[in-house]
Amino acid sequence: MDKILVTGGLGFIGSHTVVELQNEGYEVVIIDDLSNSTEKVLDGITSITGKKPLFEKLDLKERDKVERFFEKHSDIKGVIHFAASKAVGESVQEPLLYYENNISTLVYILKELKKLASVGFIFSSSCTVYGQADELPITENAPVKQAESPYGNTKQIGEEIISDTCKVTPNLKAIALRYFNPVGSHESAKIGELPIGVPQNLVPFITQTAIGIREQLSVFGDDYPTPDGTCIRDYIHVVDLAKAHVVALNRLLKNKNKTNYETFNLGTGTGSSVLEVVKAFEKVSGQKLNYKIVGRREGDIISAYADTTKANNELGWKTQLTLDDAMRSAWKWEQKVREL
Ligand code: UD1
Repeated sequence: MDKILVTGGLGFIGSHTVVELQNEGYEVVIIDDLSNSTEKVLDGITSITGKKPLFEKLDLKERDKVERFFEKHSDIKGVIHFAASKAVGESVQEPLLYYENNISTLVYILKELKKLASVGFIFSSSCTVYGQADELPITENAPVKQAESPYGNTKQIGEEIISDTCKVTPNLKAIALRYFNPVGSHESAKIGELPIGVPQNLVPFITQTAIGIREQLSVFGDDYPTPDGTCIRDYIHVVDLAKAHVVALNRLLKNKNKTNYETFNLGTGTGSSVLEVVKAFEKVSGQKLNYKIVGRREGDIISAYADTTKANNELGWKTQLTLDDAMRSAWKWEQKVREL
């Protein structure tokens, strides 16, 4: 079976994708610099799939090492590139760190891929490229808006770098997957999200509040022009998201792609408000969540959810799990992770 490289394969979405790749029979090689993950995640993956993926601790900024890695693994047929920094606030404080971590590393990898006979490349992009879209649901044709943060900008620039490279590199086929809001964890609770410090994202903040690590969830604003006044997002279960990566990779490896560079939205197609997420959590956990409404968070958009038509029709993929499933698994993981 084909050998696939997963960069950042010990991270949240990366680890779930490794599981789905192994379930499909792919041979997986992970590289990760462990800056936002731990080697223990390998045990979780192995315990789910019964097969330990190859792992190399490697910082993609170390160009010589990247070059040597690809010399050793010249039989790689596909690369799923998750490795990147992702804290929006930090990126505003440290823009150069983000451009170096997310852009220079992408360039180094693409330079290596040019040397291979044929390779499929999947890029982790984000619905953040659309900013506050003028029309909802958001299709792939919605214009890319001026990025709100260096982090968001690295996703936009990343997409452009890949698109430009594909135009002149016939052996390279790529898909950028624009994720909406990934949440939840594997149902086994053997892998999941491991936020460092105080979580910035809604769902880990909810579960950490429920378990008593945080005192209270602050709901950022209830005066938005939405039905209950709180912001709306498209929360997609990370296992559905992981499966989409395998489907996208299969498309490239089987030459089913229409052009050498394609983009797809990955979401459920349904928007949920912050309060609806809180209610879903309360329902599946059977406990009340301590929250209060506070002022708006700077930079938040009002509403974003995906038009999934292109992913449904062309990838033949659609989500199977619900928001309740995601909240149930996130809660199970939160209870389990404290024991790991
Ligand atoms: C955020 C990033 C986005 C990134 C994504 C990755 C910002 C402005 N955007 O998206 O660029 O791609 O994470 O996952 O940081 N909320 C609360 N209280 C909290 C936390 C969040 O009310 O303590 C609300 C937010 O206002 C928002 C919703 O929950 O309406 C989701 O927030 P979050 O999980 O941070 O995701 P995004 O802001 O959509």
